[in-house]
Amino acid sequence: MKAKIEQVGVLLDALPYILKYKDEIFVIKYGGSAQTSPVLKEKFARDIILMYLVGIKPVIVHGGGNAIGEMLDRLQIGSHFVDGLRVTDAQVMEVVEMVLSGSINKEITALLNLHGAKAIGVSGKDAGMIHAEPVDFEKYGFVGKITAIDESVIRNLIAERFIPVIAPIGSAGSGDHPGFNINADTAAGYIAASLGARKIIFMTDTPGVKRADGAFAHTLNEQEIETLRKAGVIAGGMIPKVEACLHAVKGGVKKAHIIDGRIEHALLLEIFTSEGVGTVIKP
Ligand SMILES: Nc1ncnc2c1ncn2[C@@H]1O[C@H](COP(=O)(O)OP(=O)(O)OP(=O)(O)O)[C@@H](O)[C@H]1O
Ligand SMILES: [Mg+2]
Repeated sequence: MKAKIEQVGVLLDALPYILKYKDEIFVIKYGGSAQTSPVLKEKFARDIILMYLVGIKPVIVHGGGNAIGEMLDRLQIGSHFVDGLRVTDAQVMEVVEMVLSGSINKEITALLNLHGAKAIGVSGKDAGMIHAEPVDFEKYGFVGKITAIDESVIRNLIAERFIPVIAPIGSAGSGDHPGFNINADTAAGYIAASLGARKIIFMTDTPGVKRADGAFAHTLNEQEIETLRKAGVIAGGMIPKVEACLHAVKGGVKKAHIIDGRIEHALLLEIFTSEGVGTVIKP
């Protein structure tokens, strides 16, 4: 009996958050680095379903750096990184699209549907949702930066009670172009701002953003981020993440979170408990 009363207590503790977040859009960046085991993926799917059933409107943007690397190895296609970006020639772009749009996107979508949601997988190319241009073609090839987003596509899906699952591929606006490889963090930040999302949550493989002393920051602001970046403490894959957080919160999103996707039910802990987990970036 005592255990049952405790269970009810847990539900009641979540009630204020359920009321606060009902009908709000949450953008979730599901990092390739957090998609590690079938068990974790399963828990991720169930967390999303729970959010969805209590009235939150989740929008998922996924990465897949590791899986792309593995497929390139399998196909024996060489590739390398410059400034933390994978140099993407036409052949690499084909693999990027195949893995992101073809395999990871469908895996996440199928898992959510198995658990009772209506999830729909799209890429930025669908319905001309994300337009992009080269960051610097000479240096990085088909790595793209976003020039425009048509968020009405996502809004329509949400209005029909779908959970959109978005692969970060951009369209060049012409048929014979391979399209663009867009960093998933950047895409998520743009999407959250354009939708006026309440929150953006990055699920990755660290407990948050590390400071110079090695401790993880509970909160960070723009100035602190700038200092940590200049000192090289924020580096590699964390750079586009904090930039995307800043883009989102400057664009009207109330809070951006960087959380450890390797922790079971990290999403629910962040959303439905007062302590939260990871690093929060506020405007
Ligand atoms: N100050 C920092 N605090 C925490 N992690 C940092 C910091 N600076 C750099 N990093 C690196 O950033 C990595 C997270 O970014 P990464 O791009 O690897 O993962 P992801 O974005 O979740 O996955 P994907 O790119 O596949 O979607 C961490 O594993 C860590 O090595
Ligand atoms: Mg990354």
